[in-house]
Amino acid sequence: MYNFDEIVDRKNTSCAKYDALDLYFGEEDLQPLWVADMDFKTPNVINDAIINRAKHGIYGYAKPTKKTYDLVKNWMKKRHNWEIDTSWISFVNGVVPAYSAAIEALSKEGDEVIVQTPVYFPLFKSVKENGRVLITNSLKEDNGYYTMDLDDLKSKITPKTKILTLCSPHNPVGRVWNKNELIELANICIENNITIISDEIHADIVFKKFTPLASISNEISNITLTLNSAGKTFNIAGLNCAYAISENKEILKKYENIVRKRELSSINVFGFTALEAAYEFGEEWLEQLLQYLSLNIKFTKSYLEKNNSKIIFVEPDSTYLLWFSFKNYSISHAKVKQKLLKNSKVALNDGTSFGTEGKGFFRLNAALPKTNLEKALSKIVTHF
Ligand SMILES: Cc1ncc(COP(=O)(O)O)c(C=O)c1O
Repeated sequence: MYNFDEIVDRKNTSCAKYDALDLYFGEEDLQPLWVADMDFKTPNVINDAIINRAKHGIYGYAKPTKKTYDLVKNWMKKRHNWEIDTSWISFVNGVVPAYSAAIEALSKEGDEVIVQTPVYFPLFKSVKENGRVLITNSLKEDNGYYTMDLDDLKSKITPKTKILTLCSPHNPVGRVWNKNELIELANICIENNITIISDEIHADIVFKKFTPLASISNEISNITLTLNSAGKTFNIAGLNCAYAISENKEILKKYENIVRKRELSSINVFGFTALEAAYEFGEEWLEQLLQYLSLNIKFTKSYLEKNNSKIIFVEPDSTYLLWFSFKNYSISHAKVKQKLLKNSKVALNDGTSFGTEGKGFFRLNAALPKTNLEKALSKIVTHF
């Protein structure tokens, strides 16, 4: 059994979550529950592979090998029942750099890109930074549960709409979109010649069946560029190794041209080492991680209920990111934020950073030992 209860001191490890509190929250004395990485050690199968690679002593430029491609292919087949070909895979140094490159590759300046908000903020920030027009298609919320608003989506499509960004599973609302929702969405894009960029980085951390968008049909695969990585799954995001997948040669070529132009394809040698070890030997650890996260999520739900908390919390289908609504409190968003920081002394992500729809929400990262989760919840509940 792996020990997810172990408390690991992450301070002074150039760790954004712990060492940059002052920079982002203006104080250091906070329990960090923000950045989407986990407070668990990556499994020894990965650590040992990295140590062995380091013992070699030469760290020149790295390239993926046949084995790297085969492991990605096998992972998609085994975990997600998706058959892909080596020629569809393109390695890159992160999902966010890949996304930005894809925006440039698959649209022109002034074109419109539709993003379903609230969502992980680089997915809309990159659109603007690339000089494209951001169109938001807000998700519909019903007491903390989210669905897509496809009527609104249809009404926003114009001849200038070239890309739809899908976050699947969705950060921060935690939905695993079901197959029917994905088919309906994709059909609208097929009818309107819109390419879908599907960010599937959270695909492995799911508590119900996940369907990769492009696995549904050839027609859908033909309009999709999928982005993924082992970064979230195995807590190796700092090793900057990710990949894009597309069956459509034209889409992949356009995307790779921009990746080359932006010099994004050179990947840290330890990134490949970790990815290979993870996909070859990491499944047992992942299964146990999923059980631990699921218990943390259930614990959170019952803790809030037992303490008669007015926080609205719907258990996510995916991710360890918990989307807390404080809308039942008759205080402003700014006041909630202040109380979390000054009274509860916890650092959560501000919901409004995911879009205006995030007003009243804060995102709590529950990928931490249960004792520390309990401490955090107790500090929150005491002041709310
Ligand atoms: C939806 C989503 N995409 C991408 C990323 C980051 O990907 P990368 O670190 O590979 O750039 C995150 C990290 O939180 C995320 O939640």
